[in-house]
Amino acid sequence: MKKTDELYSGKAKTIYHTEDPNLLIMDFRDSLTAFDGEKKSEVPKKGYYNAQISKKLFELLEEKGIKTHYREMVAGNEMLVDTVSIILVEVIVRNIATGSMTRKYPFEEGTVLDEPVIVMDYKDDSRHDPMLNEDIAIALGLATREELAGIRQTALKINEILKAYLDERGLLLPDFKLEFGRRGTEVVLGDEISCDTCRLWDKETGDSLDKDVFRFDKGDLAAAYREVARRIVPEIFD
Ligand SMILES: Nc1ncnc2c1ncn2[C@@H]1O[C@H](COP(=O)(O)OP(=O)(O)OP(=O)(O)O)[C@@H](O)[C@H]1O
Ligand SMILES: [Mg+2]
Repeated sequence: MKKTDELYSGKAKTIYHTEDPNLLIMDFRDSLTAFDGEKKSEVPKKGYYNAQISKKLFELLEEKGIKTHYREMVAGNEMLVDTVSIILVEVIVRNIATGSMTRKYPFEEGTVLDEPVIVMDYKDDSRHDPMLNEDIAIALGLATREELAGIRQTALKINEILKAYLDERGLLLPDFKLEFGRRGTEVVLGDEISCDTCRLWDKETGDSLDKDVFRFDKGDLAAAYREVARRIVPEIFD
């Protein structure tokens, strides 16, 4: 399957049409942004690592019965996906209090939450992704109450699968962001699951191995992403 014209260029990925209207190619670029695009950079191989990590995690989730937009890789950093209409809700799952959760609420940094906390934000950078509740999401026509309930259940199931998988590889999962979309009338997982969309801490040292390395100048981002890739997709280093 080949790329045709560009459909959309986001902060980190470029989406291309293909000759099949039901299929798109997602090009994972080396571009990096933080704070709604205020901070920008380019990191060689970052796109490749995120694409390969996303591939592996989408395959894992499909094996466990989670429907995703993932089809196959057409290049190291190019993923063939189903065309979906993205639901403009960023679904954030939190297991450990950190980042904006400790800035906005009286949670102690690093507190392990008794149970996962799901936060839904309106996907709109110009408004700085304001937090949603069900009634606002429904009033905005973003999704139905049934869809939101289904998305919540799926996000909790994904959390259990990813936590166990990453723990076996010496990684903690404080929080991550998911995007869902409609493939016809079916709601499936879209976008990516990578070091850009997850917080990942080394289980032994507590070191960040995710975009916080860039957000807060904590060191070598490429090395951090490579370390995660080495643990999740060791086969790409053979
Ligand atoms: N299967 C899919 N079909 C259609 N669009 C998708 C699919 N998966 C992801 N997308 C959208 O493609 C874009 C990917 O680009 P990227 O992640 O770089 O954008 P972004 O900067 O995070 O977000 P945005 O620019 O949308 O605020 C996002 O808008 C995402 O919602
Ligand atoms: Mg994105």
